[in-house]
Amino acid sequence: MDIKQFSDTVSATEPDWSREKIRKAWDPGRRLIWAIRRYQANAERKGLWGRVIRKYWSLNHLFWSTVTQCEIHLACEIGGGLLLPHPNGIVIHSKSKIGANCLIMHQVTLAGHVKLGGHVDIGTGAKLLGPPSKNSNWLTVGDHVQVGANAIVSRDLPSYSTAVGIPAKIIRQYFPTLSSTLYVFGSGPCPENGLIRYELERLVEGQDDTAHVIDVLPFAPV
Ligand SMILES: CC(C)(COP(=O)(O)OP(=O)(O)OC[C@H]1O[C@@H](n2cnc3c(N)ncnc32)[C@H](O)[C@@H]1OP(=O)(O)O)[C@@H](O)C(=O)NCCC(=O)NCCS
Repeated sequence: MDIKQFSDTVSATEPDWSREKIRKAWDPGRRLIWAIRRYQANAERKGLWGRVIRKYWSLNHLFWSTVTQCEIHLACEIGGGLLLPHPNGIVIHSKSKIGANCLIMHQVTLAGHVKLGGHVDIGTGAKLLGPPSKNSNWLTVGDHVQVGANAIVSRDLPSYSTAVGIPAKIIRQYFPTLSSTLYVFGSGPCPENGLIRYELERLVEGQDDTAHVIDVLPFAPV
């Protein structure tokens, strides 16, 4: 899907809670998320009743975690509208943060300090490994990002980008300010200043036939 279309369809900031609404009795992914939501909603509750409620929801979480073979920690910060279409084998570290309206496929791992922006779709089997280096505490993924199936992401990904492969490389990035999508055809060294040299074809909206090649362009900050 074109990345502009992709970013237009779902908000990165306004959680769409209807995505989490339990649709049927057997709805393991949504029930797992619901258990986390209820536990967190009662996290500050004091007294015996608070402890009983937390125990109930932590057991409920344990049940759905066992059913789905997922490990999504009760302490994870999860923005509203998370979708787990095939809830199986998903592992999310307790320190990970997930933005609004993300979608996580089966067998995905968010290892360590991983911060997802809003509307990040992660394909099946992808692994995001944070932190990327000693200098950074977080592996950060921007808004409206697609991570391909089985990708291994060990570096930050900017907003409006699609990354695939091992290690994951950005194959295209949309620049809202330029109204254009940049398709990456080759990569070069990544200098200290953070600019990435790529050979790019720049497709200006409505001028696909007259696309021209530019050789260096900085990626937008996350
Ligand atoms: C990343 C993704 C969203 C890109 O989709 P797209 O925009 O339609 O991309 P395209 O099919 O145009 O592919 C663009 C290029 O990336 C490559 N590519 C796409 N997905 C890839 C992946 N997961 N790993 C490696 N390369 C991939 C394609 O081979 C193609 O390369 P080429 O230009 O050299 O031929 C999609 O491929 C993907 O991985 N989606 C996850 C789907 C998923 O997990 N579904 C689970 C269903 S149960």
